[in-house]
Parts: sequence; structure tokens; C-alpha cells
Amino acid sequence: MLILAIESSCDETSIAVVDGNKILSNVISSQFVHSKYGGVVPEIASRAHLRIINEIYHQSLKEATVSIENIDAIAVTNQPGLLGSLIVGVNFAKGLALKFNKPIIPVDHIEGHIYSGFLEDPTLEFPAIAMVVSGGHTAIFKADSFNQYTTLGLTRDDAAGEAFDKISKLLGLGYPGGPIIDKLAKLGNPQAFNFPRTMYNSNDYDFSFSGLKTSFKNFLEHNYDNHPPKEIIPDLAASVQSAIVDVLIKKVFAASDEYNIKNIVIGGGVSANSFLREQAFAKAQAENKRVVFPAITLSMDNAAMIGFLADKKLSELGGDAFRDFTFICGANSLRSKYPKKKKINLINKNY
Ligand code: KG4
Ligand code: ZN
Repeated sequence: MLILAIESSCDETSIAVVDGNKILSNVISSQFVHSKYGGVVPEIASRAHLRIINEIYHQSLKEATVSIENIDAIAVTNQPGLLGSLIVGVNFAKGLALKFNKPIIPVDHIEGHIYSGFLEDPTLEFPAIAMVVSGGHTAIFKADSFNQYTTLGLTRDDAAGEAFDKISKLLGLGYPGGPIIDKLAKLGNPQAFNFPRTMYNSNDYDFSFSGLKTSFKNFLEHNYDNHPPKEIIPDLAASVQSAIVDVLIKKVFAASDEYNIKNIVIGGGVSANSFLREQAFAKAQAENKRVVFPAITLSMDNAAMIGFLADKKLSELGGDAFRDFTFICGANSLRSKYPKKKKINLINKNY
């Protein structure tokens, strides 16, 4: 079944055409306009989606060499995310579905990330522990099947990517901060400074990264009057990166131990981090576990993961189950949408 999927929840406009786990196109346009503000500005993001979405749509069909008439269903991210950004994608999707008389399948963005490892590697088996680490989310899930998953833990405040971004801003390094810190850290010593690893020993799967940002800010203020000398920037980058990665690795492997699950998937923008990858692969090898990092284009926000999940729903329920155009966009916080320890039935979930 051919699915045209649309993703616009944050600052990437993406449209993909997928056929099961075959990706025919996955066009992703990132909005660089936010870099001068040090973070995503919601109003600018929604306007940028609006400007480019039609072009991305045509490009995606062209790359896939299919026409809209041959598409079996439209899929779209409807939650969670920036409301104005979600509205652009959802209304574009609804317009297409109405005009061309196609079923429309709303997909949860986080669920897209959770299952992206199965799109990357079809040999990966359930159950799996899935960690989603991005600018907006940091969470650990236990995925039992394409129909069922459980939330094990969530960040209580900032996401890991947000910590990278805010610390980069404090150092005047630019946005997004993750790739910049990653690069600089390669030249530095991760043990040069000791920054807090909040909740490292909390015996649960929750995270908290806002304290690290505050501690880093205070450190710069007290020691360097906010202007650290250039030569220590790589050591600062390596030390702060190590504080973030240590907590991520500890929690995701602890979940794998507790539930006796050897398959681990790490997705979301922060999963591009080279130190995180290095640590995860080394630990997996030592503990005889399997860790899958989706390719960058499937880790960052992308429409292919949305189409892939929509295909599972469509195969299970059939097109007639997706003729409801009244679903809305949800910007709710992760904590209310993904209750801990409660099994979520994904296919029959009420959107
Ligand atoms: O998943 P994503 O593209 O968008 C959402 O936030 O949903 O993730 C973007 C985040 C940003 O915070 C960015 O700084 C971070 O991913 N990131 C990285 C790296 N590449 C991107 N963080 C650490 N190391 C990287 N190499
Ligand atoms: Zn995301």
C-alpha cells in the first residue's frame, strides 16, 4: 500500500511516500531561520511550513515517481508538537484526502520515533526498549508489538537536546547546539570538569536536564564571568556532553536489564551524537545486546517514520476506519499523553 505521509510538528517540513518499509521518498526541509534566535520560534516555524509545504509535496511525489491518484492513504502527524506547525501539516493532509478521496491516518509523532528502528532494520524483533532523545523529548519506552507499548520514563523538565542547545547558547556557539558540541567535544577531555548527572541513581527511567543547564550557567558566571577562555571550550563541551550521555546510557541499559530485553533502539535528533553512539555500541557489545540507531534521516523529524506506522494501522483496520476528518492537533505535554506504566494500545487509540 502506498502512503503519502506528512510531518510538520516542529521545525522540519517533511513529506514521504512509503510502501510498507520501503521508502520511495523522504524529503526533509529543515528551517535554519531559527538559528539566530537560539531556539525554535513557533510563529516563524508555522509560517515557514506554510511557505514550503506545497513544494515539498510535489518534490516527494516526483522523487517517488508516483502520482497522487496512486496513493492509497494520507498519513499525518497530529500530536504532540507546536500547535501552529501541526495545524499546517494536518490541514494540508485533510485537504489532499478530501480532494482525492483518500483515507486519512493521524499518527502520534513520538510513536513514530519509537518504531523508527523497525523501519531502519526490519530484522529487529519485539520486544524492544526504545529511547527517544530529541530537542523536545527524552523518554524511554518498552515496545511489545506494533500495537502495544508502555512508557517507562520521561524527562521531568528539559529534553536532552534542549540541554545541548541551551548550553551551546550560553557558550555563544549557535543553534542547534548538539552537533556543535559534539564536534568540539572530540577535541576535549570529558573528565576535565565534573557537571551534575541528575537522576543518575534515581532507580527509575525519568530524566531531568534543567539542573545541568543551571549548574553550567553558574559555573561560567562564577569562574569566568561568563566568558570562558577559548582554549577550554573543547573541555567544557566534552565534559557537558559526557554528563548528558552518561545518564542516557545508564537509564536505557538499566531498562534493558530490568525487563530482560536485549534489543535497544535509540532515535530522535540527539541519537546522532557520536559519543552516545560510541558508548552505546561499546556497552551493547560488552553485554551481548543489540542496539539500533536509525539512519540520521530516520532519527531526526521525518515523514517516513509516520508513513511506516500509518501502514501498520491501515493493514490492521482497513481504509474505511480512517474516514474521520474531525480529529484535531494536540500540543499536550508528554507527561499527560504518555502515562507511565500504562499499556497503550496503539492501533485502536482514540485520536
Ligand atoms: O529530533 P530533532 O531533529 O527535532 C526535535 O527536537 O524533535 O532533534 C533536534 C535536537 C536538537 O536539540 C539538536 O541540538 C540535537 O537534536 N542534536 C544533537 C546532535 N545532532 C542534533 N545533539 C547532540 N549531538 C548531536 N550530534
Ligand atoms: Zn521528534
